[in-house]
Amino acid sequence: MSVLAALPETEAESVPLGRVLADLRRAFAHAGIAEPAADARVLVAGALGLEPARLILHEADPLDAIARARIGEAGARRLAGEPVYRILGIRSFFGLTLALSPETLEPRVDSEILVEAVMPHVARIAAAKGTCRIADLGTGTGALALALLAATPAATALGTDISIGALETASANAARNGLADRFRTVRSDWFDRVEGERFDLVVSNPPYIASSAIGGLLREVREHDPRAALDGGADGLDAYRRLAEGAAAHLEDGGAVAVEHGFDQPAVVAEIFARMGFSPVSVHHDLAGHRRAAIFVPRIGTCG
Ligand SMILES: C[S@@+](CC[C@H](N)C(=O)[O-])C[C@H]1O[C@@H](n2cnc3c(N)ncnc32)[C@H](O)[C@@H]1O
Repeated sequence: MSVLAALPETEAESVPLGRVLADLRRAFAHAGIAEPAADARVLVAGALGLEPARLILHEADPLDAIARARIGEAGARRLAGEPVYRILGIRSFFGLTLALSPETLEPRVDSEILVEAVMPHVARIAAAKGTCRIADLGTGTGALALALLAATPAATALGTDISIGALETASANAARNGLADRFRTVRSDWFDRVEGERFDLVVSNPPYIASSAIGGLLREVREHDPRAALDGGADGLDAYRRLAEGAAAHLEDGGAVAVEHGFDQPAVVAEIFARMGFSPVSVHHDLAGHRRAAIFVPRIGTCG
């Protein structure tokens, strides 16, 4: 069923874009979609190959039946619960365009907090050493590593993931953004296959939802982000334990580990890293004021 079916017969041949947009927005609002206007804008812009911000300049443009059918199909998928960027198959993150695949998490705005926190360190280390070696564990689309590489041309990165499909997507994203010569991947269960390598920065946005809470997540997340990207084990903290256990042996002198975590996990994540000999050097907040990322360094005397 087309979500644009309500348009009058007489307008079947050519309908202004603004009218189609309003139609879609109404259908989304009626269905209880949380952000009907934004979703309609992003979908219509994506279907027409336009920037959402420039849509307003085209509201009077006539849309033919083919364009309307494309938008109608995208709208129906949104009404069936698929998130807008899954429908478009791409998402922008820190100015990069990243392809999504069924094996990758859709990068979140929250993860920009971690990138912003780490970026000055990458620049400082690259300026001092001529390069900065980054490991992005659980790289997914490659979002964190690629954003850092794009910002610091002297840096290099290794992206790891348990999912081969995610690594293929991350490599394709590196190529798409002109970063392939500084990005490589390895399939690894956290540090298991990262043998004998040391990094200036280890970054990770690991799965951190408790297994029992997955069923209560929004349908858009539960049904469309891969389980491996969400499920952090019984208490949601399995990955942090593995990262904290393995990090010291993979850090250069002066190196640091930076992780994203859930809004309710800062204390327990800090405790996990403290038990393995790390101290926090900074914590980073989201717009709601929750601590969502932390950077840790080995305490003096901690051997790696
Ligand atoms: C929350 S997603 C983060 C993806 C990406 N870094 C981002 O910020 O958008 C977690 C990632 O960890 C990966 N992952 C899950 N278990 C893993 C494991 N045992 N070893 C390595 N990666 C794992 C998932 O496949 C997923 O890509």
